[in-house]
Amino acid sequence: MLKDALLFLARQGSIRKFVSSNPAARRVARRFVAGEELDEAMQVAHTLNKQHISVSLDHLGENVSDAAEAQAAAHVYITILERIAAEQAEANISVKLTALGLDIAEDLCRDNLRFVLRRAADMGIFVRVDMEGSAYTQRTLDFVLQLRCEFDNVGTVLQSMLRRSPKDVEALITSKTRVRLVKGAYLESSAIAYPKKSDVDAAYVTLMHELLERGVYPAIATHDEQIIAEARRFTEQRGIGRARFEFQMLYGIRRDLQEVLAREGYNVRVYVPYGTQWYPYLTRRLAERPANLIFIASNLLRR
Ligand code: FDA
Repeated sequence: MLKDALLFLARQGSIRKFVSSNPAARRVARRFVAGEELDEAMQVAHTLNKQHISVSLDHLGENVSDAAEAQAAAHVYITILERIAAEQAEANISVKLTALGLDIAEDLCRDNLRFVLRRAADMGIFVRVDMEGSAYTQRTLDFVLQLRCEFDNVGTVLQSMLRRSPKDVEALITSKTRVRLVKGAYLESSAIAYPKKSDVDAAYVTLMHELLERGVYPAIATHDEQIIAEARRFTEQRGIGRARFEFQMLYGIRRDLQEVLAREGYNVRVYVPYGTQWYPYLTRRLAERPANLIFIASNLLRR
């Protein structure tokens, strides 16, 4: 119930405005967001790189309704790519199609994504297309599969909560497209998504086995210790080398686990979001773990 309410709040523009300008809320956001400026995100990237952890940089923003804003978002990603290359950071980028204009026009969004992919390809940098709510699943997969014919450096995300994902995983494996596997962070109806967490977790493990065995460099993106243990067990038992996959986690969540896995020689990548549009991202992180509200409350009480 609380989770649903938080995910509902993530979509409310008026609440977003109010919270985004609140200093205490900004303090809370800093636990999950590297900062509002690219300089801050690059600093975080270099610190993580020193610990042998690579990163995926995300410029926060989604559901833009203005073509100029979508083009500006694509240009921000070009700046990020240039900084990654110039500073030789161990980093790639994560983009959201609704930040590149998917809500406005498919052609606009495709042109923006192609522009980013081309520059990234020139620099040898991989681009991950994040997966948003189910209204975008089919279009995201169509875009990625289409552009996959032109580019080697594009991959996407599948959500184990969606009942359709076993079929999608096959299409992505067949097209040799890199997949980041997640549980899913959006509010979905039980008609298309598993309402029970135990079913989402079980589906995750099944999809993970398929990707580890037959996929191209899958990203096991979770903080779930049991699933991480199962990935370790499965890969060791099947002789799947550590170079053939990576673990991914979110900035600010389970840093201890990130460091342990990296020290043990696993490839670990942390998703590092930055920017001023942090409100929907923050509410999704709260919905995943309502206990985080205690962290918020303690920050609100601080001056
Ligand atoms: P689960 O929710 O079961 O949590 C397992 C444990 O992790 C918890 O017990 C707790 O210890 C810790 N934990 C998890 N979330 C936490 C939080 N917010 N705060 C504090 N502790 C927390 N989703 C999506 O729909 N589209 C996408 O593109 C992406 N991209 C993405 C990239 C990366 C790198 C990651 C790790 C995750 C995503 N996600 C995502 C989010 C994903 O769908 C999911 O909501 C979160 O990863 C939380 O689920 P877990 O797998 O961690 O399991």
